[in-house]
Amino acid sequence: MKVNGAPTRPIAVASDGWAVEIIDQTRLPHAFVKVRLETLADAERAIRDMWVRGAPLIGATAAYGMALAMRADASEGGLAEAYRRLYATRPTAVNLRWALDDLRGRLGGLAPEARPAAAYARAAAICEEDVAINAAIGRHGLALIRELWERKGRPARLNVLTHCNAGWLATVDWGTATAPIYMAHDAGVPVHVWVDETRPRNQGANLTAWELLNHGVPHTVVVDNTGGHLMQHGMVDLCIVGTDRTTARGDVCNKIGTYLKALAAHDNGVPFYVALPGPTVDWTIEDGLHEIPIEQRDPAEVTRIAGLADGGQLLSVAVTPAGSPAANFGFDVTPARLVTGLITERGVCAASHQGLLSLYPEHR
Ligand code: MRU
Repeated sequence: MKVNGAPTRPIAVASDGWAVEIIDQTRLPHAFVKVRLETLADAERAIRDMWVRGAPLIGATAAYGMALAMRADASEGGLAEAYRRLYATRPTAVNLRWALDDLRGRLGGLAPEARPAAAYARAAAICEEDVAINAAIGRHGLALIRELWERKGRPARLNVLTHCNAGWLATVDWGTATAPIYMAHDAGVPVHVWVDETRPRNQGANLTAWELLNHGVPHTVVVDNTGGHLMQHGMVDLCIVGTDRTTARGDVCNKIGTYLKALAAHDNGVPFYVALPGPTVDWTIEDGLHEIPIEQRDPAEVTRIAGLADGGQLLSVAVTPAGSPAANFGFDVTPARLVTGLITERGVCAASHQGLLSLYPEHR
């Protein structure tokens, strides 16, 4: 997508041909800052401290992290160490394991001297695959949005609610949940997006809003508790969210608060779709509620909030009494029964074992 008119991706190889350039997403929307990653430790930190985040982008960064690690030490020990350290950065998004398994499998069969170039090539391919996947998700989602708009008699505004940031900043391009939105907007369907702010880290308010503003998509930021009210009053036509891990039976793990939106959507008859690339399906598990590790982050993300002061300086301020403990669960699981459909690169399917297998028969 474009930033100030220039095509931009959240991850790319730098002009020197080896370092990896990312956007520091902790600085958005107030500052657009690119950061160079040069080592395995840089990649580790970028994922752990959420300079990059979002399931597909975490996978892509881990792939480049392996490439950076191979430049320094391409031995068996170096490969194992890079895998171990990157795997430990964030536990929930399965794309991390998917990318690391892919890289380790390919590199393991090569002589150490061939590994750095092979790792860079595979990381680049993973990025290009992600872009193609998200564009395909966008096309399938566009058909669904257009059909809904026609069915409703072409209203002047079609309201989509989204949670967190499953936009281009969370992927290599297009985003997952946002790809259908961008394509619908570009195709002339009058979409308007309700953007959940997504405490504690405000990925909706900081990142999704910034993306939509850049692309000219009409949107309104709401606090996380607003969705139920909007749905009760007919102000949401459909929800589209992303996912960090979806199980083989269609349970969806996504940013904390997604489950509450799915409950409200169910109660109000609002379609609730999840957009996801194939690598976000974890075919090894069924029961999302008990089998997905839920990341717990620093309570300070709850007790404090960051923002731009009127004077222009970035501030972090306390929002709770100093002595109150806080808990910071990063994700929750929406059971498949609350999900209207999964929008994938291969089409839209039911959130069920059968539905997923109809699109991915190779996992039978
Ligand atoms: O903690 P984050 O910001 O990495 O969480 C991101 C999400 O929950 C996204 O909705 C999900 O990764 C899908 S991104 C295409």
